[in-house]
Amino acid sequence: MAEGAKGLAGVAVADTALSYIDGEAGRLFYRGYDIHPLAEKGSFAEALYLLWYGELPTRLKLTVFEGLLARERRLPDELLGVLRQLPSEATPMSALRTTVSVLGELDPDAGDNSREANLRKAGRLVAMLPAAVAAHHRLRRGEAPLAPDPDLGPAADFLRMLTGETAGDTAAEALDTSLLLYLDHGFNASTFACRVVASTLADMHAALTAGVAALSGPLHGGANEHAMRMLEQIGSIDAVDGYLERELAAGRKIMGFGHRVYRTEDPRSTHLREMARRLGERSGDESWYELSRAVEAAMRERKGLYCNVDFYCATVYRHLGIPLDLFTPLFALGRTGGWAAHVMEQHEDNRLIRPRANYTGIVDRPYVLIERRDERGPTTDSEPDPEI
Ligand SMILES: CC(C)(COP(=O)(O)OP(=O)(O)OC[C@H]1O[C@@H](n2cnc3c(N)ncnc32)[C@H](O)[C@@H]1OP(=O)(O)O)[C@@H](O)C(=O)NCCC(=O)NCCS
Repeated sequence: MAEGAKGLAGVAVADTALSYIDGEAGRLFYRGYDIHPLAEKGSFAEALYLLWYGELPTRLKLTVFEGLLARERRLPDELLGVLRQLPSEATPMSALRTTVSVLGELDPDAGDNSREANLRKAGRLVAMLPAAVAAHHRLRRGEAPLAPDPDLGPAADFLRMLTGETAGDTAAEALDTSLLLYLDHGFNASTFACRVVASTLADMHAALTAGVAALSGPLHGGANEHAMRMLEQIGSIDAVDGYLERELAAGRKIMGFGHRVYRTEDPRSTHLREMARRLGERSGDESWYELSRAVEAAMRERKGLYCNVDFYCATVYRHLGIPLDLFTPLFALGRTGGWAAHVMEQHEDNRLIRPRANYTGIVDRPYVLIERRDERGPTTDSEPDPEI
């Protein structure tokens, strides 16, 4: 294996014109547009339009696009039936993975990889998945799922379907911006998983099922949930140093810190930090923000590491009242738009993604007939014990 290629670090696997990360300068671009003005002035739907169609929408085009998505939010009864049957201990991420798979069974464009069909499927997925996350959450609490309200924006409607209450503008805007910031990010692990599946000419739903699965791990999307669990465990600013001392000495990773590509501040965390500060200020409880600042400063001092997108997102979602195990599904709801864009890009100029492995085993061993094998010969730890 080429030096430094472990985990495919530094290897460019395919072309993309969707998002560009300048890891040295700490900049992120969607279709060439800097993330900062998009996050400050734009919306999730606007960034999604940009990613899927290549240009910023006019007001009319955006209104039509938002209307199309809003009308697709209603969940098929078959899916609600499956969600009702999931075991009570099913995690929201596994419910989401199952949801994408079930929607693939029901989609009228299933198996059609044309751009038009992919856009229709992508629209349904972006519209329905928030409703499905909310429905699964209510069902596991013994509550009836709520029907979508197409007159509300996507973030406001998600919060209403989740809690049954009308969300304030600040909460809906904060959630919408977080989804925009999660939308796309080069060849991260889940996007790469989607592209590998799409490159076999498997369809949109197959690829996105793999994307949700890849996102569920703690080194990727799971980090926002684990970052909040860590803040809860630390509990107070006084305890930060002791906690980091213990965890780092034990060789454990601090969730929400470090990045494969950024060598400076992750530009998404600039917005999420400010959102966390403002939400804390509004709520009159700035303790999560202040604790986060203390952890951030201590990590810079001890390890020279910057926080990533997931660290301050944890505090933002906490202030929005999102249950902890829905943090990663929310990341998935934002990234769905990016995954879908990558599937389209892959299908439109496809070549099977099939890297080589660096074989480290023995080559050309002589085959020994079974009756000639020594029972006392070499065994490995994981082989079943013949005495049992
Ligand atoms: C994101 C991540 C997987 C990137 O991994 P990577 O590019 O393979 O980087 P490495 O794990 O090789 O880390 C490089 C060095 O930084 C250290 N490091 C990286 N992230 C760290 C963290 N979160 N806590 C403590 N040390 C960390 C590693 O221990 C390693 O140190 P060493 O060279 O002394 O061994 C990694 O930083 C991580 O596990 N972070 C925590 C999980 C997380 O927040 N994920 C969300 C990503 S958006």
